[in-house]
Amino acid sequence: MDTPRIIQSSPLTQEQQIENSLRPQILDDFIGQEKLKENLKIFIAAAKVRKEALDHCLFYAPPGLGKTTLSHIIAKEMGTNLVITAGPALSQKADLATILTNLHEGDIFFIDEIHRMPHVIEEYIYPAMEDFKLDVIIGQGGPAAKIVKLPLPHFTLIGATTRAGLLSSPLRDRFGIVQHLDFYDLDSLIKILHRSSSIMNIEVMADAACEIAARSRGTPRIVNRLLRRVRDFAQIEGGIITKKIAQKALQALEVDNAGLDKMDRILLTTLINKFGGGPCGVETLAIAISEDVDTITDVYEPYLIQSGFIARTPRGRVVTEAGFKHLGITPKSSKQKSLF
Ligand SMILES: Nc1ncnc2c1ncn2[C@@H]1O[C@H](COP(=O)(O)OP(=O)(O)OP(=O)(O)O)[C@@H](O)[C@H]1O
Ligand SMILES: [Mg+2]
Repeated sequence: MDTPRIIQSSPLTQEQQIENSLRPQILDDFIGQEKLKENLKIFIAAAKVRKEALDHCLFYAPPGLGKTTLSHIIAKEMGTNLVITAGPALSQKADLATILTNLHEGDIFFIDEIHRMPHVIEEYIYPAMEDFKLDVIIGQGGPAAKIVKLPLPHFTLIGATTRAGLLSSPLRDRFGIVQHLDFYDLDSLIKILHRSSSIMNIEVMADAACEIAARSRGTPRIVNRLLRRVRDFAQIEGGIITKKIAQKALQALEVDNAGLDKMDRILLTTLINKFGGGPCGVETLAIAISEDVDTITDVYEPYLIQSGFIARTPRGRVVTEAGFKHLGITPKSSKQKSLF
């Protein structure tokens, strides 16, 4: 096999370039998610013994937990090429056909935000996933047109999504490997921070690492982001990241001791001040805080729910007792109290 290629359908932003430089390259460097790693190791080893492509994989998790990283690692571990695109970029059947027919045996085809793939494309991809065949119309249409089943190389589709619930079940059922990534525990986040700081050549004291990791919302991307910001503060004050500098920087960045940022707190206080703590529908909440529904659902809510500050009920979102406590607000009305 030639040197693995990474083909990306859109240019990388500066943030993505920095992320790429911190990305673990092999499964052993991927920190945490032990169960998932254990499973993947077996699936990869078995596919290699059989000299077959790995089964199609679906990774679902909130942003920044390692879905894209895993797709890079799998390509590397399988020794194959990685072709990257995103659901919204696949608007035409012809684009998909071009990608699929250019794949080599065993290649990884990564579709990010797979829940945003148009419906027609989704149906078009089913036979490609299942039988490695693609329906192609030959001729200009009309009576002379013929549908030909074009054979494709055996490839692995890796889908990533923040919203498994938005995937249709026929699509979900076509993935042999479906894995959820959990928020990371403190130990794993500290390890990730130390790994990144050594790549970036930054000295971080143990208690400072713990302070930053504890406020990273269980998310590797946020650990790395906070590390870079705290480094800016440390550089002015001698270079080494101490706990004191970390605390000062995190305060300046308005990240509180639970890792909530300004927007999280706006969301909570709006729910309390404007909607009596809820229940409040996400659409109404989105208008009230001038955010879009997807950002609330994908970015803010998962961690607020996981930390027990808000709860999702059939009638909408409610702030929990812990949420009130965190903001130092006492529930006033009997309605608010009865929520708990
Ligand atoms: N398990 C891990 N160990 C070490 N670093 C990690 C791990 N998971 C993620 N990272 C780091 O976090 C960053 C974000 O990860 P990644 O881009 O894979 O997230 P994602 O799940 O694809 O997010 P999104 O939904 O926004 O696309 C990467 O730069 C990577 O370096
Ligand atoms: Mg990603």
